[in-house]
Amino acid sequence: MKNLQYYLKKAQKEKWAIGQFNFSDLSQLEGIIEAAKKLKSPIILGTSEGESRFLGLKQAVALKEAYQSEIGLPVFLNLDHGKSFEYLRKAIGIGYDMVHFDGSRLPLKDNIAETKEVVRCAKKAGVLTEGEVGVIGTDASKLYEGKFILKPEDLTNPKESEQYIKETGVDGLAVSIGNFHGVSIKGNPKLDTERLKQIRKLIKESFLVLHGGSGIKKQDIKKAIKLGIVKININTELRLAYTKTLKKALQINPKETTPYKYLPSAIRAVQKVVEEKILLFGSKNKI
Ligand code: G3H
Repeated sequence: MKNLQYYLKKAQKEKWAIGQFNFSDLSQLEGIIEAAKKLKSPIILGTSEGESRFLGLKQAVALKEAYQSEIGLPVFLNLDHGKSFEYLRKAIGIGYDMVHFDGSRLPLKDNIAETKEVVRCAKKAGVLTEGEVGVIGTDASKLYEGKFILKPEDLTNPKESEQYIKETGVDGLAVSIGNFHGVSIKGNPKLDTERLKQIRKLIKESFLVLHGGSGIKKQDIKKAIKLGIVKININTELRLAYTKTLKKALQINPKETTPYKYLPSAIRAVQKVVEEKILLFGSKNKI
């Protein structure tokens, strides 16, 4: 099987994006895998620190490997938003394919220094790295002038990101261009595509990542891919689909106590969201 770098480079060259889909239990994972299998798409599975603590780092790797060997699909695993070197070192040692160090709230100098440590450790193990410059935020954390948007100084500074990439040697960069984690009833995130263009101009080789993929308008996603985004992270939309459907299933049949009888509709709901994203990102038939 080709490695993750191969697919990211292919996506960069052909202008499509690989989805990262987060999960914290087997039934969510089932839905994600079914979608990838059906549409023959490479995918990245994501676990945040919290998700991987709930599931277990070893267990996440074992699940990924089990599906990889069973279905023969390019399925990769990323440790998402790791805040400490120690935790990322564990994930690297255990068999994650990629680790994302989120030092975005640190001063640039410290972010660079800590990222370098992670990159050094990951490179030895042949693991890819993702870093972050600029604060991404969540739907609720950035109420600014009555709107859920980020302040200009929170966004990724193109010059700083160029310096960050040069000094750290990180493989990929998560950008803050108006995207935020979660979905907001107050409106979709508005992407600063001009800023993305400037970042791409300065960062030619490294792959660019769009976090907070939930709730971004289809046309904005397409534009971001055209401008060089090759990895898009989705979590909230999967959680919403899973939880809403599961609640409904239990409400309809409150006496049901057999998980394999009440879980399938929630699994299918996750599958549906992932299929839509794969089609939008253009990763169908790219294995
Ligand atoms: O790293 C995870 C993502 O960026 C998820 O964002 O919950 O808005 O889809 P989302």
